[in-house]
Parts: sequence; C-alpha cells; structure tokens
Amino acid sequence: MQGRVVVVGSLNMDLVVRAGRLPQAGETLAGDSFFTVPGGKGANQAVAAARLGAQVAMVGCVGDDAYGRQLLAGLCAEGIDCQAVEEVAGVSSGVALIVVDAASQNAIVIVAGSNGHLLPPSIERFDALLQASDVVVCQMEVPPQTVAFTLARARALGKTVILNPAPASGPLPGEWLGNIDYLIPNESEAAALAGLPVHDQSSAQLAAGHLCDLGLARVIVTLGAQGALLVTGQASEHFAAPVVQALDTTAAGDTFVGAFAAALARGCSEREAVAFGQRAAAISVTRAGAQPSIPGLAEVGP
Ligand code: RIB
Repeated sequence: MQGRVVVVGSLNMDLVVRAGRLPQAGETLAGDSFFTVPGGKGANQAVAAARLGAQVAMVGCVGDDAYGRQLLAGLCAEGIDCQAVEEVAGVSSGVALIVVDAASQNAIVIVAGSNGHLLPPSIERFDALLQASDVVVCQMEVPPQTVAFTLARARALGKTVILNPAPASGPLPGEWLGNIDYLIPNESEAAALAGLPVHDQSSAQLAAGHLCDLGLARVIVTLGAQGALLVTGQASEHFAAPVVQALDTTAAGDTFVGAFAAALARGCSEREAVAFGQRAAAISVTRAGAQPSIPGLAEVGP
C-alpha cells in the first residue's frame, strides 16, 4: 500500500561550503569546496517521503528566479505533486548558507525569501490535497500563522499530523499542541521548546516528558548517533542508531521525518516507522548535501 503524504513547508537552494572547521565571528576562513544543491526542510521531507514509497504533494512557494525554477523541477522529477507550489513574483527563492566542517557538523543561515509568502489562503486553496492525504507534515521555515492554520485544518480532517519544530527558538503556542500527533525535534529544538538542556538520552527524556505534560501526545527526539527517543505520556522507548561513518549530517533530520511519515502513511506501526526513519537517516549522513543524500527504498529496505 502506498500512503499519501502532504508536506506544507519550505524550499531552499542550499549554498554549501566544506571547511576544516566552522568560522568564528569576524574571521575569514578558507574553505575546501563549494556546491549548490536543492534543500529546504519542507522539500527535503517531501523528497524523503517520495523516495521511500509515499505518494507526496508539496505545498510551498518559490521565487520567480532561476533557483525557484530549479527547485520546482527537482521536486516534479521525484514524482511529487507540485500543483500547490506557487511562484511569487518579484521575490527571491529561499536560500540556506551552509558550512560543513571536517567532523561533519554544520551551521546554517537561512533567508526565507518566497517561503515567507506561504500564507493560510494558499492552504485553503489546496484543501483538497489535505483532504486526500493520510499524513500531513509541517516544519517552521514558513510563517507561524500558516503552520497553525495547517495543523488545525489537518486535525479537523482527522489526519495524522506531524510537526518538525525546526528551527525552534522557544516554546510552541499552547493552542498548537492538541493538533499535533507527533512532534519530532532534534536535541537543540527539544531544549528550546522545553526550556531544559538536552545532550543525551536521559535529558531528552526529561524534556520530552515536560512537552507531553504541556499537552503533546507523542514526542520523538532525534539524537543523531545517540539514536531516537519516543516518548508518549509516561512511557518512553529508546531506539539505537545504526552505526555509520558520517560525512555530512545536513538533512538527516528531514530524512527521518519524511521516512517516518511515509511509513505511517502506508500503515506501519510507530515503532516500525521510527526504525525505518533511522535506517534512512543513517544512510543520508554518509553522503554530502541535502536532497542528493536522501536514499530510496531499494537501499533502506521495507
Ligand atoms: O534541514 C536541512 C535544511 O535546512 C537545509 O536543506 C537548508 O535548506 C535548511 O532549510
């Protein structure tokens, strides 16, 4: 069975530099290489879900520039329904400036550009896509009122609702919480949302428990090489990560989210979906770039 996933979110062109280390404030640092690849958390998650077996529709905005045309063509080539990816006149496409260091860690600065123009009327215009979906996925690189509107509409339609709260700078609005089935933050996002430090499994459990106390049904904290933690009310389960040699962790979280959504949409249990997401994310970190690093079903397995 092929489930249907709708992703409401960002598309960015990623301008990526590899350097021995991340630069300090005021420093000019020589990098080793430069490449341009399609990214954006929303588009990455859409690509992951599509490569991993789901029928996917993307709702988002690109600018009327060469990057926008390239981003749109890339998603269409993946077989993603792009009828709801709108071009905004006179606005640049979203971009992300990414530095990846020798330890495969990254630092990212995003400029929203056209992503800032994705507003609730666009979600209303493409309501039929939400109606036809099994799973709806949002992130936070588009305006918060759009995220709030989408979560509420998807909840009203009885869909499975996933929020990847990235980037996160503080607590989520309380009225969002009851509209989310799965909140999927990484360590730093979980820390920002809960107001607690998160650096390992036990601190992640405390933060996720606090988020559940606030009204979230289920929280999955992705901890990179330390695995993932699924917390539902009082219960929690740790999933160890496959051991790999990481080259670039960009879009590992997006690969997890897209894979998890695709697995839930085709009827897997949440435990199966977490394990599937981890296998996909582990492969993605062994390759450079955002969308080029995302594996397909043949590599990840059923
Ligand atoms: O999560 C990785 C993504 O974050 C990159 O592709 C970049 O575009 C930023 O949105």
